[in-house]
Amino acid sequence: MKLQAVKGTRDILPNRQAFWHHVIGRVGSVMARSGVREIDVPIFEHTEVFTRSAGASSDLVVQKEMYTFTDRGGRSITLRPEFTGGVLRAFIEHGMVNWPTPVKLWSHGPIFRGEQVQRGRYRQFHQVNCELVGLPGPLIDAEAISLLYDALRACGLKDLVVRLGSVGDPEDRARHNHYLRAALNPHREALSEASKTRLVLNPLRLWDSKDPGDQELLKDLTPPLEHLSNEARDHFEGVKSYLDDWEIPVEVDPAIVRALDYYRRTAFEIHHSAIGAQSALAGGGRYDGLIGHLGGPDLPGVGWAFGVDRVLDALTVDEVGIPKESGPDLFLIPLDEEAVGEVARLARHLRAAFRVEHSYRRRNPGRGLRDAERSGAPLAGLRGAAERETHSLTVKDLVSGEQRDILEDNLPAFLRKAGRA
Ligand code: HAM
Repeated sequence: MKLQAVKGTRDILPNRQAFWHHVIGRVGSVMARSGVREIDVPIFEHTEVFTRSAGASSDLVVQKEMYTFTDRGGRSITLRPEFTGGVLRAFIEHGMVNWPTPVKLWSHGPIFRGEQVQRGRYRQFHQVNCELVGLPGPLIDAEAISLLYDALRACGLKDLVVRLGSVGDPEDRARHNHYLRAALNPHREALSEASKTRLVLNPLRLWDSKDPGDQELLKDLTPPLEHLSNEARDHFEGVKSYLDDWEIPVEVDPAIVRALDYYRRTAFEIHHSAIGAQSALAGGGRYDGLIGHLGGPDLPGVGWAFGVDRVLDALTVDEVGIPKESGPDLFLIPLDEEAVGEVARLARHLRAAFRVEHSYRRRNPGRGLRDAERSGAPLAGLRGAAERETHSLTVKDLVSGEQRDILEDNLPAFLRKAGRA
């Protein structure tokens, strides 16, 4: 068998690394300026952390999307299919309930979901995640959304639209589910297979269906936003008015629903024209009740995650100026056998302050200079018998062609003067 990456996983090759660092770095600065602290949680947890957080009618559970295995001690372990369960488990375990509220935490790292692979949908992908815990009012929802918006803008994305809606409180959902069952049970046979299951397990999710037949049936029904209690409605209006005030572009989406069970009231997504209307760049919402459900105190919270892979796809299309991989400051060329070890020693010494590469074999000057040019270095240092005699290098400027002898001891000062430090 030819060895290949598992379907739905991707290698991040060296020439894409700058891209990743750009995104994580920009997000990190936005978070630091907003008092959001970074937290790392394990890549795997006891399965219950995720089944309890995602919920029995979530896609993760219903569609068996979790990578679950039994470890040698007979425990059921799952590779994280989202951050929220693990971060809130850590929140409870480390007594963060006693920290001043809101507790603001962000993370980034790989996420695993056994999904149908397609463009923008992978089985291992990278998320940036944020959780703001402890406050019930609409201000913190608006802060969560503005953090997400600002983080994506800081990465270089333009034309972002926040789609905002509300899935209501549990009573609103129960009422809405009842309404959908009553309206759609008579047409059950006309629904897609997935929606037939949803009608039983979690009718609210029907609003997510892309099936034209389902959409036809839904088009005359009232969406969740119009089934809210007064309190949930006020909360929604509160979030919207903060966002309007802060000039964040919002489209109200009365039928927004999410694939995870824990959302209460606020639900949102961010979309971008380049990656298609079907797939969101980011999603999140409020999850009051979840911390209590995971065994902690009854604290409210709101959070989101975005997919770094999708952001990179969108960035490519936007042609954002991504920093190019740059070459070394100096490329060393050994002109005889003895010089191979000498340039390696010199490189090691200079690497305390400069980026230095070298040929690992004796080279004639022509071939050596071609290697140097290919490395992207602006300067090449040649070392042969003559240079050994004088403890020096012949340094050639690969742009101007100018050439001069530099004593080994003077190389750091020379490189600094050439603007290489
Ligand atoms: P989610 O909507 O499941 O939310 O995922 C958030 C983002 O992760 C998506 O908008 C998308 O960009 C990315 N994503 C999801 N699945 C894939 C995939 N298969 N391949 C590539 N990218 C993907 C959550 O995960 C929630 N835990 C967010 C949250 C935090 N809610 C509250 N706190």
